[in-house]
Amino acid sequence: MPEELAKLTLTVPYNDIEAAKSAVDLYGDDIACVIVEPVAGNMGVVPPAPGFLEGLREITAEKDILLIFDEVITGFRLTYGGFQNIAGIEPDLTCLGKIIGGGLPVGAFGGRREIMEKLAPMGPVYQAGTLSGNPLAMAAGIATLNCLQKPGVYDALEEKTARLCAGIKKTFEEKGISHRINRVGSMFTLFFTPEDVTDFASAAKSDTELFSHHFGKMLAGGVMIAPSQFETSFVSLAHTDEDIDTTLAVLE
Ligand SMILES: Cc1ncc(COP(=O)(O)O)c(C=O)c1O
Repeated sequence: MPEELAKLTLTVPYNDIEAAKSAVDLYGDDIACVIVEPVAGNMGVVPPAPGFLEGLREITAEKDILLIFDEVITGFRLTYGGFQNIAGIEPDLTCLGKIIGGGLPVGAFGGRREIMEKLAPMGPVYQAGTLSGNPLAMAAGIATLNCLQKPGVYDALEEKTARLCAGIKKTFEEKGISHRINRVGSMFTLFFTPEDVTDFASAAKSDTELFSHHFGKMLAGGVMIAPSQFETSFVSLAHTDEDIDTTLAVLE
């Protein structure tokens, strides 16, 4: 990213509402929007601390700053809808991707009517592309969303992921290996650290060499996990109970 563009962005630590307040106090009128993953996935899984998202909603509403939830990972994964439905917070805009395209390349965004009406053809902001609304991607997305509307699917995901994480915890406890597992529904990260992970600074304290060793051993055993300590693992409806048993056996 060009340095000049990066200079237009302020970064504050996740879960640090005081830092966000200070940034808004300092730059208030110059801030167009605050964008946040409501459950962080791109430093490994970090759930929002109580009051963090509520605080962001409050300070952005006060200063007429748009609040954007990046639900590319969380959208349709934790419930039918976004994490915003679980948290009870309404952002001004929401970004979606991944699940909404059923594995095909799709991105989507939506939000308040008066913002969406700024887009072409109603408004002056041009937004289009050769593959926008591509029929194949739309069909895959609709098929996936139909599948996710079936009763019990989110309970099944919760159950499978809870069992997997309980098994991982038990194995590491038995072997005396320091770790933390952060999990929200079917997304989780195993951090090799003795301390709670609540933001990027605490995630970065993880033992990445141990992670590499773990990754290599799992791969050799036929289980391919995400190749970085700072990624999220996802359990999907396609994972069987047998897959979970195999994963735990290889981990052992
Ligand atoms: C939270 C989040 N937002 C946005 C993106 C970017 O999505 P895309 O790769 O579809 O542009 C990703 C990609 O992994 C993501 O995890």
